[in-house]
Amino acid sequence: MYEEIIHDLMESGYGCVDNWLSAEQTEHLRKHLLERYHEDAFKRAGIGNKFNLTLADEVRKDTIFWLDRNSMTDTEHFFFDKLSHFIGYLNRTCFTGIADYEFHYAVYEKGAFYKKHVDRFNNDDKRRFSLVYYLTENWKDGDGGELCIYGQNQSIIQPKGGRFVFFESTLEHEVLLSNTQRLSLTGWLKLR
Ligand code: OGA
Ligand code: MN
Repeated sequence: MYEEIIHDLMESGYGCVDNWLSAEQTEHLRKHLLERYHEDAFKRAGIGNKFNLTLADEVRKDTIFWLDRNSMTDTEHFFFDKLSHFIGYLNRTCFTGIADYEFHYAVYEKGAFYKKHVDRFNNDDKRRFSLVYYLTENWKDGDGGELCIYGQNQSIIQPKGGRFVFFESTLEHEVLLSNTQRLSLTGWLKLR
């Protein structure tokens, strides 16, 4: 699985695999996300980092919840243990020097989107890779919210639950208009 992602990453700037976690684990993350969401723990996402954060309705319309390593469920721990293992492999085989990561859950309600952007901030170039683990249940054609990556070619990725996408944070990308509730766990692998 790691080889497949890394091969695709080298070839086209992004890699994508399905069933990164088991269906039960994915279901658990989805449930936990929704619990937090219904407790009103999510906040409107902005653009920029803590030094220049602004809300921009015309750019993005998702809400997010940052994960805190000190209060995670077993499945969340499993996700990050597996991710750490993958990062170790990536660092050994590709000399990527990933030293840290940060993750948030994201909810796009019907009508939400995130216009074309890059994930690396102007005032902080530590974000090396962007990663999304989709949690939407039963995504189908017409539900929208596809991820569009503008690499050498334009690639459209359907945000199906269980799918794991990994791409260079310098690549332009966009979340197309969502026609239904779209759920994900999204994060960045960072240099020291
Ligand atoms: C982001 C982003 C892509 C996606 O949160 O910066 O581009 O498919 N997400 O959710
Ligand atoms: Mn992005």
